[in-house]
Amino acid sequence: MSVLFPTYKRWELEPAYAKGARMTGENGKEYLDFTSGIGVCNLGHCHEAVKEQVEAQLDKFWHVSNFFPQNIQEQAGKLLAEASGMDYVFFANSGAEANEAAIKLARKATGRSKIISFKSSFHGRTLGAMAATGQEKVWQGFGSMPENFVHLPFNDCERLWEEDGTDTAAVMLEVIQGEGGIHPASEKFLKETEAFCRKNDALFMVDEIQTGIGRTGKAFAFQHYGVQPDIITAAKGLGSGFPIGAMAGKGWLGEAFGPGSHGSTFGGNAIATTAAKATMEIIFNENFLRETRELGVYLAQLLKQSLGILENVRDIRGIGLMVGIEITEELSGTLQELRENGLLALPAGENVIRLLPPLNVNKMEIDEAVSLLEMTLKKRA
Ligand SMILES: Cc1ncc(COP(=O)(O)O)c(C=O)c1O
Repeated sequence: MSVLFPTYKRWELEPAYAKGARMTGENGKEYLDFTSGIGVCNLGHCHEAVKEQVEAQLDKFWHVSNFFPQNIQEQAGKLLAEASGMDYVFFANSGAEANEAAIKLARKATGRSKIISFKSSFHGRTLGAMAATGQEKVWQGFGSMPENFVHLPFNDCERLWEEDGTDTAAVMLEVIQGEGGIHPASEKFLKETEAFCRKNDALFMVDEIQTGIGRTGKAFAFQHYGVQPDIITAAKGLGSGFPIGAMAGKGWLGEAFGPGSHGSTFGGNAIATTAAKATMEIIFNENFLRETRELGVYLAQLLKQSLGILENVRDIRGIGLMVGIEITEELSGTLQELRENGLLALPAGENVIRLLPPLNVNKMEIDEAVSLLEMTLKKRA
């Protein structure tokens, strides 16, 4: 019996080691990993450049506390701020913590407390992030949620404009709802949400925890649409597997987050920020991002050709290397069969196979993954 709380229904595969897009199990079997640790290892497992910088930092110091100025935080923060069009960064340890920081900052900076978010969204498991999450199953059994969170239907501009925005601190959304089933926001919805925020002096807040750090072929997914949020949050891919989250915001918000207003013992830890700096140095490069976009187009075309005709495939959608395949089959059995055939893929929503390969995956690995998907889904059709 496991000593761990059974919060996760774990797979049958225990990893032994992993490199790039490949993982070897304790059973000696090799797998193609299109999960990237749920969108975390965006450079593949154990990337050499990240390892080198982390190893160098391990020899300097590991942790000193936020009483000390740390150049590594400044460097990592600058990369994140420049890539997202922001002025200030707060480092946390996870996505949920980054969203907590964002919610707290929005409330303090505006003096309002209502947060508008959307049905089927996912923002994390702490109480504030849970309250923002638009899924009842996430709240169930935990008693009353923090107040003043409103969940509107996603991609519904009309309904948004019906909402009173004058008491709203922020509107918070994912550009592609990830956990909810790979549902992209429409361009119109993103632009109207931005306009709604501007009209009501509310903050436009984008949760880029799954979509950011190059996942969709731009540094951040909002950049496909010519909108500019006031606050973004990032985590997952930011540290290549070292735990780190971040909230970045516009300069005028700085005043609301003065000394004593918010904090974290581990936030901005030297090892995690070094990993983040090394990761961003590679990913926030126009050639790298262009290649990610090209690989995304290649994957989408191949999936449509090979799976689009199958009876048990209902839809294929996504942007860049964040892809969902909606199926009519039972999901967990399908994912297990995929693993047995050598491909690791994720669930999303009720019936979506989610693919989050490393951004530097190669075309041969994409070919292999698609043929494993085709073989598995054909057999089940
Ligand atoms: C969009 C989004 N926001 C927030 C989170 C929560 O991040 P974490 O698990 O690091 O707290 C996730 C995790 O899946 C996510 O996908």
